[in-house]
Formats: sequence, structure tokens, C-alpha cells
Amino acid sequence: MARRAIASAPGKVILFGEHFVVYGKSSIVMAISRRVYVTVEKYKTEEIIIESDLGYTGLFTGNTYKPLIGGLDGEPILKPVYIAANKTLEFLSINSGLKISISSEIPIASGLGSSASTFVATIIATSYLFDCSLSYKELFNLSLRAEEHVHGTPSGVDQAIAINGGLIEYNRFSGFEKLKSPVDIPLIIGNTGILRSTGGQVAKVRRFAEKNPSIMKTLFLQIEEIISKAKNSLVEGDLEDLGILMDRNQELLRIIGVSHEKLEELILVAKRAGALGAKLTGAGGGGCMIALVTDKVKNSVAKAIENAGGKSLPVNISTNGVEVKLYNDDS
Ligand code: PMV
Repeated sequence: MARRAIASAPGKVILFGEHFVVYGKSSIVMAISRRVYVTVEKYKTEEIIIESDLGYTGLFTGNTYKPLIGGLDGEPILKPVYIAANKTLEFLSINSGLKISISSEIPIASGLGSSASTFVATIIATSYLFDCSLSYKELFNLSLRAEEHVHGTPSGVDQAIAINGGLIEYNRFSGFEKLKSPVDIPLIIGNTGILRSTGGQVAKVRRFAEKNPSIMKTLFLQIEEIISKAKNSLVEGDLEDLGILMDRNQELLRIIGVSHEKLEELILVAKRAGALGAKLTGAGGGGCMIALVTDKVKNSVAKAIENAGGKSLPVNISTNGVEVKLYNDDS
């Protein structure tokens, strides 16, 4: 096979602070042991062909999309990947076509950061293919350009965690800080299977904030308190406190209108089965919830989620952020 670069990046769960992070508040986010893999090779000049294991393949010539597999439905999914790759070529002043292949273990449009991980892996693989290395800031900014195509005002939290891995506190103004916990943070993800758009959810919160400025101000104070307490609980390894704080965070998310009846059902059954805390993760409106569990209750929580019609997924922290390797021959 020809010279190619293969990169992978982890998905994530937001433990605390989604949506409020868009408004400059801090968030706490953890990389998970599910990754997206992106292979990049050279292709005919000027053309970027993208194939995804979602069943879409398409050819971008400039901004023009030609579907090869899966019809025009593939365009909105593949376009931001094209933007990520094209902006990287422009940034590196390279004129080349590319063949990009994506395979992912992260469900899409469900709050687990699949888009950002794909962009970050695409960008770093493209730069490696041409023997260029990007700084953290360059990789972050290029990936944010692609994310802006998905929704207008991304906070950058998904990019920061896909690049770094592990557990971080992220703030769009002050950047990220690595956090360490002496204990595992055992989570069961419950996927409602309901796809939703992050952009739509972010716009919904924007309308809420414009209509209810004083409520929003109170919620900002509350999330600040939750984040500060959660940092202490993580450092002390106090999972019970962490669970209580997750429940409190979910109350705020309900108020700003991003929960969903299916999410509420999965949260309820997880709590009844013994979860220490449970909340939606990511943009909400469908997608995934997370339940903080102990060894004793993890199986019963997973079962309760499945019985309620959700798909359960136990996850561990991934300490590995984005990774990339160049292959020059038949290796
Ligand atoms: O796209 P999701 O579901 O992983 O959510 C991203 C988190 C938000 O806070 C809702 C948006 C953002 O840009 O931070």
C-alpha cells in the first residue's frame, strides 16, 4: 500500500458543564476508551475523496460534492471532514489531493464527541503525511474551524479532550488543565438512540438565555459552584459527592431545556438501580446519558438502561489523546 498516515482520537463524556461552557464557564470532561480511526493518503491533484464506515463515500472538488456511495445524504456528514483536511492543506501551503478513510467506534450525533475526534485525527494525519507537525494550538484551531461548520459557536471542549485524552478542566478563555483522580470513575453510558444536532441544542439554549437573563445568571453561579466542588471530589476520590453533583448539574440542564423524556427515563432507572448520580452528556435533546456506578451496581444499572430501551455501554477513561503513525511501505 502507498505511503499513508493513520491517526486515532478518543471520544469523550462531559462530566460537568456542557452548554455553560459555551458562555465561558468551566467544564470537566473525560476521554473514553472508544476511538475514531482516520487514514490519509495522497490522491489525484485537487480532489479529496472521503469514505466513512457510516456508508458514505464522496468526492470534493473545491466545494462541489459528488456522491459515490450513499447519495447526497453523505454531504453534510463528510463536508466538515473535507473542511478540516482542506484548511490543513491551506495552512501548510500544500497542493495535493487526498484520500481519507474513517472508521469509528463512537456513535455519531449522540454527545460522545465523534465529530471533533474525527476532525482532530484527520488534521494530524494530513500533516504527518506531508512530514509536518502541528503545535497544540494549530491543531486545536484548525479543528475548531471544522467544528464551526457543524455549529456556529463551539466552545472547543471536544477538541481539547480529543487532543489531550485523560481528564481535564476546560474553559474557552483560559484553556485546559489536566486533572487527576486517585480512583477510577466508573461510568455506564446510556444511549437513547435519538439523534440530535448540537447546533440546534446550542441555539435553543441561546434563546433561553436571551429570554431569561436573570435565571441564566443564577444558573451560571450554580454551575461554577458545582465545578469547583466536583474538582475537589475528583481529587479526593469521593464518588458519592461526585454523584450528587452530577444530579445537581442535571437539574440545571433541565431548566435550560436540553433534556428529553427518554433521557429522563434512563436517568431515573439508572438511579433506581443504584447509580450514585446520573445526567445527560453533551448537547442533550436525545443522545446519551451517563450514570456513575460502583462495582456492586454496575451490572444492574446497565440492565435497567437496556430494559428501558436504551443501549448501555460501560466506559473507562482513555489516557491516550490523539495518536498518529506514518507508514511508508507495505508495513
Ligand atoms: O456535540 P456534543 O453533543 O458533544 O456537545 C458539545 C458540548 C456543548 O457544550 C453542548 C457545545 C460546545 O461547543 O461546548
